[in-house]
Amino acid sequence: MKLTSTFNAAADAVVYPGDCQDLLKHIPAETVQIVITSPPYNVGKSYETKQTLEEYLVQQAPVIGEAARILKPSGSICWQVGNYIDKSRGGGIVPLDVALYPLFAAQGLRLRNRIVWHFEHGLHCSRRFSGRYETICWFTKSDDYYFALDPVRVPQKYPGKKHFKGPKIGQFSSNPLGKNPGDVWIIPNVKNNHVEKTDHPCQFPIELVERLILSMSQPGDWVVDPFAGVGTTMAAAVRCGRRGAGAEIDKNYVEIAKHRIRAAGAGQLRVRERNTPVFDPEKAGCALRQSPWDACRSVRPTAQPEQLRLLDSSTATKVVP
Ligand SMILES: C[S@@+](CC[C@H](N)C(=O)[O-])C[C@H]1O[C@@H](n2cnc3c(N)ncnc32)[C@H](O)[C@@H]1O
Repeated sequence: MKLTSTFNAAADAVVYPGDCQDLLKHIPAETVQIVITSPPYNVGKSYETKQTLEEYLVQQAPVIGEAARILKPSGSICWQVGNYIDKSRGGGIVPLDVALYPLFAAQGLRLRNRIVWHFEHGLHCSRRFSGRYETICWFTKSDDYYFALDPVRVPQKYPGKKHFKGPKIGQFSSNPLGKNPGDVWIIPNVKNNHVEKTDHPCQFPIELVERLILSMSQPGDWVVDPFAGVGTTMAAAVRCGRRGAGAEIDKNYVEIAKHRIRAAGAGQLRVRERNTPVFDPEKAGCALRQSPWDACRSVRPTAQPEQLRLLDSSTATKVVP
């Protein structure tokens, strides 16, 4: 595996330790099949400098322009974002994909899907419903874009279903390769005990990136991530037989990215396998599924919510005085 720190057409992977615009300007026009990224969202993460929405959009515009320039005519851009929280407007949210859309449209890019990525872990809000999805906007450079469904089909819900009338009556009606995954993707985000967890607070799950890579590129193609973090996009590209290049300003993340890409090249990167069902604590028989409140109620049905709140799981089965 040839891993370099500046763009090199003969490399398998590139991790540029610095600003993404310095990497992008060294990539020749129309050489890249996909740009996949999750830029800083301006939500106050450790690696971010808080900016106004207007400043943020001004900073993103040249990166989007460069992404469009390096893209092959058959290529795609997948930009993954959440919400901007606007303190100047009473803490209201601004969907960043909506705010960014005009910047992509100005480059002549066509929006093919606005994919909703649903996950279960995140901040618990008290003044709004907790955010449990973000979006991936998939743009293409032209109408003659590369897209292959078969490598990313998911298991059918009713694989044994048959045509019940017409000339195909009695034959199986579903595609044996699986179904189109649709535009709502339920893939756990990388938190706590996730097998892919690193030091990064918001890394991509490998499965999410691989679904984009396998459907929008072919072996040997270049996949670029301007805001590479711990290198998930490049590691996924290498796992899929593509080549990956990315930039990252944080030295610690750069080292983790290089380590993960090498592990991917050696077939040793630990990942959550594709299409693994989301963990169901009930099916898994998790003891924490037993509610201390219910256990307590069965002992003393008249206990008041205030008393019950004081209990923890170790005292839950004791009688409350
Ligand atoms: C949302 S995170 C991306 C995480 C990534 N998808 C992963 O799986 O690890 C955004 C990253 O962009 C980096 N970053 C911010 N500004 C940058 C810039 N101008 N050039 C390169 N990287 C930048 C941050 O340090 C952060 O790690």
